Amino acid sequence: MAFVADLVAGARPNFIKLAPVARALRDTGRLETRIVHTGQHYDPGMSQVFFDQLRIPQPDVHLEVGSGSQGAQTARILERYEAHLLVNRPDVTVVFGDVNSTAACALAAVKLEIPLVHVEAGLRSFDRTMPEEINRVVTDAVADLLLVSEPSGMANLEREGVDVARVRLVGNVMVDTLVAELNEARALGLPRRLGVEPHGYGVVTMHRPSNVDDRECLARLLRLLVELAEDLPLVFPMHPRTRAAAERANILSALLACPRVKVVEPLSYRENLGLMADAVVVLTDSGGMQEETSVLGVPCMTLRDNTERPITVERGTSRLVGNDPVRIRRGFGDALSGNWPPPSGIPLWDGKAAGRVATAIEERYCTARGVGDA
Ligand code: UD1
Repeated sequence: MAFVADLVAGARPNFIKLAPVARALRDTGRLETRIVHTGQHYDPGMSQVFFDQLRIPQPDVHLEVGSGSQGAQTARILERYEAHLLVNRPDVTVVFGDVNSTAACALAAVKLEIPLVHVEAGLRSFDRTMPEEINRVVTDAVADLLLVSEPSGMANLEREGVDVARVRLVGNVMVDTLVAELNEARALGLPRRLGVEPHGYGVVTMHRPSNVDDRECLARLLRLLVELAEDLPLVFPMHPRTRAAAERANILSALLACPRVKVVEPLSYRENLGLMADAVVVLTDSGGMQEETSVLGVPCMTLRDNTERPITVERGTSRLVGNDPVRIRRGFGDALSGNWPPPSGIPLWDGKAAGRVATAIEERYCTARGVGDA
């Protein structure tokens, strides 16, 4: 009987990480993969376009959970994934990153004694006000195999007393997707199509509750963008959460009226990558974009006070600026004048991490049990 691995994804960053891992696992020829989409992200532009561009097979299972409060969404995913597991039990469940789908499916699996693999384990912002930090801590606490993307993750897990036999530093699978897609992404020529010159614009994204849920904070940030755009045109692919918050607070129209800030719908993976690759600077609160800009060598102002990805600050091109206008203005000036340290190369962010993920899973679950051996 085939050894079955459920690969769980729910939100944008998950799809980018799942794509190379699904391929690498299939390439082993020793296990069957089943793709489970929780439906946490459901707009075509936040979900289907990623499946299409990254050539992810259509999900075998779709839980269609949709949006909700933290508790309601997590509970709905847990309940629906458990129902699936009760009739279609895999040999192992693989979850990615730190979104609600990650933690919810982790709990559903381990309560049924299904071994859990966490890809991107060990990251810690030490900021428990972030839903993602809770998801990371919960998932790592119950995972059987913890696959880590950067050295800080190894140190965090060691400090938390996790058995080293269950932990592997495999590198960053998101970089595998970046390496595979960069040429096609650049070939789209999106900057010019949006009316900006390559190396003559900045990119902005924000969606974290800490930046967008508070009206005053969001208004301050949006006003600042209008001011910064006087020195450099900005492209702002706007997350639906941010758009809704700005509309509710009556501050969207002022931003839309500024001709040097181009507000667009959320971009596809390749569009976003191509846009970042030729930017002068990126302002973002996305963890994935901190990593991607570090690999691309593009200055990244991270609109947070902490990061669970410290390597992007130590060896990459990310600088933490919070949502403080003074720090943001200073960082923006430094980026424009070229006063920014170059990236120094991050170990194992080499485009081959998914192969190491597949090997780790094979060794722990297939080789030990003689699965797929002739
Ligand atoms: C989620 C992740 C975050 C990740 C981000 C990437 C959690 C806790 N957060 O945040 O870590 O960086 O995805 O985008 O899991 N919405 C739509 N269409 C969609 C999805 C969402 O309109 O397809 C709107 C809804 O109003 C929803 C809101 O966005 O309530 C927030 O979506 P949700 O998935 O809860 O969190 P994100 O902010 O996207």
